[in-house]
Amino acid sequence: MNKHVILTGDRPTGKLHIGHYIGSLRSRVAMQNSGDYDSFIMIADQQALTDNARDPEKIRKSLVEVALDYLAVGIDPQKSTIFVQSQIPALAELNLYYLNLVTVSRLERNPTVKAEIQQKNFERSIPAGFFTYPVSQTADITAFKADTVPVGDDQEPMIEQAREIVRSFNSIYGQEVLVEPQGIFPPKGSGRLPGLDGNAKMSKSLNNAIYLSDDADTLRKKVMSMYTDPNHIHVEDPGKVEGNTVFTYLDVFAPDQAHVAELKQQYRAGGLGDVKLKRYLNEVLEGVLGPIREKRAEYAKDIPAVYDILKKGSQYANEVADQTLREVRAAIGVNYFD
Ligand code: TRP
Repeated sequence: MNKHVILTGDRPTGKLHIGHYIGSLRSRVAMQNSGDYDSFIMIADQQALTDNARDPEKIRKSLVEVALDYLAVGIDPQKSTIFVQSQIPALAELNLYYLNLVTVSRLERNPTVKAEIQQKNFERSIPAGFFTYPVSQTADITAFKADTVPVGDDQEPMIEQAREIVRSFNSIYGQEVLVEPQGIFPPKGSGRLPGLDGNAKMSKSLNNAIYLSDDADTLRKKVMSMYTDPNHIHVEDPGKVEGNTVFTYLDVFAPDQAHVAELKQQYRAGGLGDVKLKRYLNEVLEGVLGPIREKRAEYAKDIPAVYDILKKGSQYANEVADQTLREVRAAIGVNYFD
């Protein structure tokens, strides 16, 4: 039986944080290690440029940070292909053919793109490349004939759009050339980790993130500053567990959930102080992030070796994507000289 194929990736606009870890990195590593998949993990520098065209230096710098984050969490270049979007010319050509298979009004209805346009205050000055990035994302996925795309919940509309483009391509050009992808989303409830301030989203722009690369001291300071229950003032006051970010994190990260249940009971009753609770969370997070941080530091000692991993991955990715492009060209009939 043919293996399943995974394609997924991240925009290099900064370092990755523990929200990325919970949302998708963790499951990518598990899927990689299961041996059931050919995994392609892409650093989407061209997609990052769609709304950062004037700041290419940010993308260039972030590229290696994201690569280090991948390696640190256990994406293993022996088992997965880690590559860079801009180094795969076939993707741009596939994008060009697919752009003809979507309408402007369909693109306008993509809820994630809509939300981003609002959030970035583009109003009428939306870069055309940004507006059409779901199509380019379809090129990324289909170039590798990926059937499985593990991503965060916000990416669901992209997968839907990719499926539509694939169906339309296969029906118009009369061949089963492209594979319809399936999204794999985080289990309900563990979908999104809130920020340190209790905001629903952890993000760099909100300045409320814990990065995989944070040192132990930074981690501790961030944990000690976390949002809890604003009415829990004295140790002996009864406190709220729901909406208390410290408990949300403990639910996700603590290996000893029976202990977390005890702490919740105590917190609700009164008598458990925030400082003590946060010290425990810090210990728990240190247990997860300590080994990641160490591995990251190890790889960071030899940056040329990291670029070499990306280069080798990109070479292999090019072979695979070029093969798909040949099939696509033949299906459309623009292979005049074959
Ligand atoms: N849009 C994704 C993000 O913002 C990155 C990405 C680009 C991607 N191409 C992809 C994800 C293809 C999955 C499949 O994180």
